[in-house]
Amino acid sequence: MPNKTQRNWRKEGIVYQIYPRSFKDTTGNGIGDLRGIIEKLDYIKSLGVDIIWLNPIYESPNDDNGYDISDYRNIMSEFGTMSDFDELLKGMHDRGLKLIMDLVVNHSSDEHEWFKQSRSSRENPYRDYYHWWPVEKGKPNERWSYFDVESNAWKYDEQTNSYYLHYFSVKQPDLNWENPKVRKEVYDMMHFWFKKGVDGFRMDVISFLSKDTTFPELPKKYKGDFITYYAEGENIHNYLNEMNNEVLSKYDVMTVGEAPGVTIDNALKFVDEDRNELDMFFHFDLMSLDRSEGEVFMMRKDKWKLSEFRDIFSKWDAVFAKKGWGSLFLSNHDFPRAVSRWGNDSHQYWKNSATLLHTFLLTMRGTPYFYYGDEIGMTNIRFESIEDYRDINTLNKYESLKKEGADLEAFIENEKEAARDNARTPMQWDTTKHAGFTIGEPWLKVNPNHLTRISVKSQEKDQFSVLNYFRRITKIRKENLALIYGEYKVLDSANEQVYAYTRTLENDCFLILLNFSASQVSFSLNSFNPTKLIISNSTVIESDQDNEFLLKPYQASVYKVDNLIVI
Ligand code: GLC
Repeated sequence: MPNKTQRNWRKEGIVYQIYPRSFKDTTGNGIGDLRGIIEKLDYIKSLGVDIIWLNPIYESPNDDNGYDISDYRNIMSEFGTMSDFDELLKGMHDRGLKLIMDLVVNHSSDEHEWFKQSRSSRENPYRDYYHWWPVEKGKPNERWSYFDVESNAWKYDEQTNSYYLHYFSVKQPDLNWENPKVRKEVYDMMHFWFKKGVDGFRMDVISFLSKDTTFPELPKKYKGDFITYYAEGENIHNYLNEMNNEVLSKYDVMTVGEAPGVTIDNALKFVDEDRNELDMFFHFDLMSLDRSEGEVFMMRKDKWKLSEFRDIFSKWDAVFAKKGWGSLFLSNHDFPRAVSRWGNDSHQYWKNSATLLHTFLLTMRGTPYFYYGDEIGMTNIRFESIEDYRDINTLNKYESLKKEGADLEAFIENEKEAARDNARTPMQWDTTKHAGFTIGEPWLKVNPNHLTRISVKSQEKDQFSVLNYFRRITKIRKENLALIYGEYKVLDSANEQVYAYTRTLENDCFLILLNFSASQVSFSLNSFNPTKLIISNSTVIESDQDNEFLLKPYQASVYKVDNLIVI
């Protein structure tokens, strides 16, 4: 049994991520709001999740939907007020749910008071809150930007005849973490939210905080790979350690860093319990699996293989086997829908593949994160026209390709699978107009499949629905510590159709069989007999051979193994 110091709620909890803009609108302006989340708390509780992560809800001009914050201590007016927030937090705590907020401190909005001051003159006391490069020093060395039309992270600003740095959009200037005053501001702000009772933070691009402010040429060893370079700033661990000492260590809270560029080799530096930095982080290995090399948002041409998928999970599980802890996710607001990406959302296989993915995440080691709508198997919307997109990432890339005279149709085809807006369409509550999300015009179109198979209302009544399967399996995870802490061992690691593994804690052992293919396959075990079926998303076909399993397309089955012989 894991000892008391190892066991904790951050490891045992299941996280449910809400993109507030798209969850539930109570005012009719087409934008989700905090009162909408309050209305749905009983529903959320009924899913068997424990921790809610809210994407940013702070004051923002919404260049990047809240990831450009203009006031860290106020609520975005479209979402409600601070008293709505207080009520929401109380409503969660009353139900035994915890809340983690988004902490976006690599950059602020250019409409934040700090930046307004900073850009006003070279002598302003806030000047060093951001990274400036005066033109007298010549052109700054190249830095790559995610959302810039020219991919250029330096923006010239006439007012003080200098460039400022923005790894994301021009409206998201990077804060200067090398300045102790900036760090102090951030820590004070974190105390402000912790004193209100929030239970933790998901930390936006936290690996990017530390920068070499001489801005040298990209060192050769990074060969054009800016993301890895950004993640290896010299002082990153000093800052996280300081943040832990100054703030995190004073509360019983949870932290999960978003960590692009962090690799297996430096993973433990962030989460080794003895180093006092973070509890866990999101790596990007899986999210890059179906993307072209070096192109975060372009799909690769051939299809990913199950062996590649499995290797990523196995490698990362091994890293945290003794120290630290992992996080598990298949989707979020930056990537397409899980079932469309890792499963098969065709009419025939959608249901089995959605439940297979639930089975997978809930039987792996690490804290599982689900994105709103996953529980009912929401799918990519695949917009045909650029007019339907709202995300700055798609819109700016389109602009830049248009300037280059590139093939825009091919880009739209790419976006049907890759675009972030696929995952941001409104929650599908029922079968009425706009899926019960709003009585107004939704800010982003609702997926028409709410009319048929995908809505909470239609799935509530069906005991075999994706939703009710999700509820059953969250409960199973909670009741079995082996599924949370147990050792993970892969069976048949080269199989391109079946992902099979065991989870073992002392005498408790589970066997998990997942057919990731659209064909019926057989899978044989040679050394042990599972005794009891715990859950399956398909009726099990009995084989007449001992130790042979016949698995239907996208079948997921979990067995208890009583007498464990050597595997
Ligand atoms: C993170 C967020 C993403 C945002 C970016 C800039 O990657 O998840 O949504 O656009 O940071 O803040």
